[in-house]
Amino acid sequence: MTTQTLDVDGLTIAIGHATDADTEALAALWERAGLTRPWNDPHADIALARRGPHSTILVAREGGSIAGSAMVGHDGHRGWVYYLAVEPDLQGRGLGRALLRAVEDWLRARAIPKLMLLVRPDNEKVRGFYAAEGYLEEPRIVFSRRLDGN
Ligand SMILES: CC(C)(COP(=O)(O)OP(=O)(O)OC[C@H]1O[C@@H](n2cnc3c(N)ncnc32)[C@H](O)[C@@H]1OP(=O)(O)O)[C@@H](O)C(=O)NCCC(=O)NCCS
Repeated sequence: MTTQTLDVDGLTIAIGHATDADTEALAALWERAGLTRPWNDPHADIALARRGPHSTILVAREGGSIAGSAMVGHDGHRGWVYYLAVEPDLQGRGLGRALLRAVEDWLRARAIPKLMLLVRPDNEKVRGFYAAEGYLEEPRIVFSRRLDGN
């Protein structure tokens, strides 16, 4: 994906891939957006997703700063989005939607037919956002197992 420049609510936003230099700013954004968890090291998550080729991190830049992010990847069957985050004082202006569209385009370009994501059931705000963006809630039970000893 080449960098895309968009006008979002009067802001000039460039959406492109994260670089090495973005790591600390991304980790700080995820912290401010409430997305970090003690058992996930954001630096390790960033390095793994950026290794590719089936994953990447997209960033929305406004001026010299990161205004938002999305991690996207696919397993050859489904696409998944993680760490969709917009700088708190820029939320509600359409940046989340623009990042989600960029994620969808990245997957479409790889012929991945469906985008999935997980939301905690009590996160009503984010459920409202995805519903407004045309996403359907599918009742599923998620099984998981840690493979890293945590
Ligand atoms: C979720 C998040 C990425 C959304 O980004 P955003 O820039 O604030 O959202 P947008 O301004 O692009 O909203 C897009 C549309 O969704 C709507 N929307 C957003 N939240 C909504 C809600 N709770 N209920 C109904 N609609 C909602 C907006 O009104 C807008 O539609 P409109 O243009 O027709 O008014 C952002 O709020 C965020 O970073 N939250 C904290 C991190 C987080 O929880 N990420 C999700 C991880 S799964």
